[in-house]
Amino acid sequence: MAYSDKVIDHYTNPKNVGTLDKSKTNVGTGLVGAPECGDVMRLQIEVDQESGLISDAKFKTFGCGSAIASSSLATEWLKGKTVDQALAIDNMDIVEELNLPPVKIHCSVLAEDAIKAAINDYRVKNGLAELETVAAAH
Ligand code: FES
Repeated sequence: MAYSDKVIDHYTNPKNVGTLDKSKTNVGTGLVGAPECGDVMRLQIEVDQESGLISDAKFKTFGCGSAIASSSLATEWLKGKTVDQALAIDNMDIVEELNLPPVKIHCSVLAEDAIKAAINDYRVKNGLAELETVAAAH
């Protein structure tokens, strides 16, 4: 199966690989796995409490090229967004941007799930209600 140029670009030169200090209250951490293949993704956001904007995002993905590219793209998109705007990122936006084939759609779902899990962790840490989508998945 051929990867698109954008996937190859993110895969060979991933953006924002790394770790944020998860003990900080303004850092949300999402750790999710894809049952289809066993790939695992950790995605973190750091929120500037004054502006409410996501000031940093990092990921580590143990998975296929599409999962790495999806999380790399997601961290690029997250920076500068509000938490609510980040919640609106849909896996199909990632599919479209990276031109993922149908068998790789679940890789983008993993990125969306990781974003939601990170936001949820941030919300819980800051005394806000758990996201319904995440609570339902427990
Ligand atoms: Fe499972 Fe890509 S093959 S995340």
